[in-house]
Amino acid sequence: MALILGLESSCDETAVAVIDSDAATLGARIVAQRIASQDEAHRPYGGVVPEIAARAHAEVIAPMVRAVLADAGLGLDAMDAIAATAGPGLIGGVMVGLVTGKALAMAAGKPLIAVNHLEGHALSPRLADPTLAYPYLLLLVSGGHCQILEVLGLGQYRRLATTIDDALGEAFDKTAKILGLGYPGGPAVERTARDGNPRAVPLPRPLVGSGDPQFSFAGLKSAVLRAKQSGLHGDADIAASFQQAAIDCVVDRTRLSLHAAGPVSALVIAGGVAANAALRAALGTLAGEVGLPLVAPPPALCTDNAAMIGWAGGERFAAGQFDPLDVAARPRWPLDAAAPPVRGAGVKA
Ligand code: KG4
Ligand code: ZN
Repeated sequence: MALILGLESSCDETAVAVIDSDAATLGARIVAQRIASQDEAHRPYGGVVPEIAARAHAEVIAPMVRAVLADAGLGLDAMDAIAATAGPGLIGGVMVGLVTGKALAMAAGKPLIAVNHLEGHALSPRLADPTLAYPYLLLLVSGGHCQILEVLGLGQYRRLATTIDDALGEAFDKTAKILGLGYPGGPAVERTARDGNPRAVPLPRPLVGSGDPQFSFAGLKSAVLRAKQSGLHGDADIAASFQQAAIDCVVDRTRLSLHAAGPVSALVIAGGVAANAALRAALGTLAGEVGLPLVAPPPALCTDNAAMIGWAGGERFAAGQFDPLDVAARPRWPLDAAAPPVRGAGVKA
């Protein structure tokens, strides 16, 4: 077992966790964790303001480390390693968490592990489900990313699909903005959609049926704007129809990727949008069709958190993978470095 202190600050959540992990048996326990959301600070702007985010991380992260260690009843000395998100994300925030991790590692004489935020999301299902074995097919859907990856092992990712414009979470957030549902948008769209008819508004399903392993949501977003401006539809019907169109796109693209992938143990979803119950239900049906289990972490592990960073750090700890104190913060850091870059890959992870 290894005790890992995890730090996350790549977007608009400051998060600290202590994980007791055994990567060999996939046994893990979240000893303590706290998440400080900056929603209130960004709400007036309808989106994350990088400067405000970085300042807020810098204000709260040190007291949060102290509080989480106190919750755990452990000192810094008890940690086996410090794992901090080193990218991708908003660079000011990433630097706050990474520099904090470096300072703690240096002061306590502990190894530093620089974690890719996307790897945190990608491996978080293994924290939630001790039976989930490599390789698995992962749908990673967040505010800045929309990818399907074959997760072959720790640090081994093959990207099968990505978005050519907006990420799925971005499409939810923009729809919420168009409908005036506030920020953050994804949960608000999901709530509003419950009272609507998903067939009420005819909306496009970009790329559905195409053999190109890509996502596109820009056209869907524009259609949502036109539907709202037409004045013909209520917000609940627009939200429900948008959500259904987006889910149809995701299911179609995931089915395509399942055919392109090698044998996998499970269909897995992670990232903030994986908290969406309608999406989880639709993917559960697809998984059933192809005879695979669907593994979806509990919603609290889907949105940004430090437990997933601590867990990814634990897997790296078990593999003896550490980083020097001069490791750089990276605004962009693809999981599959061999995959060609795509226009529109966002900074928000
Ligand atoms: O992974 P995450 O917490 O942050 C990063 O982007 O890294 O994902 C946040 C995204 C936002 O776009 C948010 O609107 C979306 O996840 N989201 C949801 C839901 N909960 C969060 N989208 C749809 N339905 C939800 N229930
Ligand atoms: Zn994220």
